[in-house]
Amino acid sequence: MDMGTMTLAEITRRDFPMLASDKSDDQSFIYLDHAATSQKPQKVLDVLNNYYINNNANVHRGAHQLSARATDAFEGAREITAGFINAKTPKEIVFTRNASEGINLVARTWGDSVLKEGDEILISLMEHHSNIVPWQLLAQRTGCVIRYVGLTTCGELDLDDFCTKLNERTKLVSLVHISNTLGTCNPISEVAALAHGKGALVMVDACQSLAHQVVDVASLGVDFLVGSSHKLCGPTGIGFLWSHEEVLESMPPFLGGGEMIQDVYLDQSSWAELPHKFEAGTPAIGEAIAMGAALDYLQKIGLDSIKNWEQQLTQHLFQRLESIKGLQILGPRPSRQPDRGVLATFNISDLHPNDIAALLDASGIFIRSGHHCCQPLHRHYGLAGTARASLSFITTIEEIDNFVDELISTIAFLREHS
Ligand code: ALA
Repeated sequence: MDMGTMTLAEITRRDFPMLASDKSDDQSFIYLDHAATSQKPQKVLDVLNNYYINNNANVHRGAHQLSARATDAFEGAREITAGFINAKTPKEIVFTRNASEGINLVARTWGDSVLKEGDEILISLMEHHSNIVPWQLLAQRTGCVIRYVGLTTCGELDLDDFCTKLNERTKLVSLVHISNTLGTCNPISEVAALAHGKGALVMVDACQSLAHQVVDVASLGVDFLVGSSHKLCGPTGIGFLWSHEEVLESMPPFLGGGEMIQDVYLDQSSWAELPHKFEAGTPAIGEAIAMGAALDYLQKIGLDSIKNWEQQLTQHLFQRLESIKGLQILGPRPSRQPDRGVLATFNISDLHPNDIAALLDASGIFIRSGHHCCQPLHRHYGLAGTARASLSFITTIEEIDNFVDELISTIAFLREHS
């Protein structure tokens, strides 16, 4: 095959053992649930295995060679992560279990120490539960108030409502960068400038954007950003929180234990330097190193090439879905928001999304159905659930066509038998 005429999916699919072409017919499938978790390239799995086979030792603890090797690889992954989002220094990267833990860390440390009764946190109706529940728990502890920015009719953040609700009591604005359900890409730098004008800090959940477009904390102009490795071709169990060095310095520790201390006495302790102050206990060492390999893999493909191919895929997906009678797609169209998420969440008024997903599953096509961890958003639309097909750079046009053809047959079958 001539590499010059191959699509990005054709070039990269061979890197993913889950998509191996030697699978028998009954094992082959079309995976359209990349927003839930990404598939992993062999290189990342090799790095994870290599840690356990050749370098397995604890980090920052031993004087021996193995520990030094493990520590170098672990801290190397922190450097790669910092570079990936254009952080000023690796000290600004705190490894967490996932993005939810990063948000909880900020709520428990910055939130508990700074927020008082009556202070406000501004989030939106399109947030994932991970960007709602930690703030509700914080509100119970401190008496702060959560306010929700509404949506426009096409599922974008209502900026007029945002400006009305933003005020001197707002201490934090926390928004999803790209909605996992609507696909909406929020105008984070614009929002951050407005929030900073009122003295509020800004947090962004970048879980659904980091693998799909360049995410640069300096140009976004935010104060906190969280990401999760398993959405980025990396393993589960590892993610990160980024913040400015001075903000992290000002925050008290999160969990207590080994590694996060400087000195421990019987009656008090002092804290380690950044970022270790926030990393109690033995971390997910192999997983962090493998996350570094995953970010390196994405960077080598090129986020611009990924974005370019995924935009073509998303346009095609929308074109095909829009031709289905009675199917309603949530969120802004790609023609309106080219930077939108590479997914389509849809509802067919007379059919249950779980029935659609179950029948597609029987045909080897994997999509997600349900509330996608966004119950308040679904309630806003008066829906109990929706179906969602989410793409990646390894998705092909043929897979989208097969999915939509099968979806059309599924709809006909369900209507006939209901
Ligand atoms: N937040 C993930 C999703 O959207 C799990 O599917």
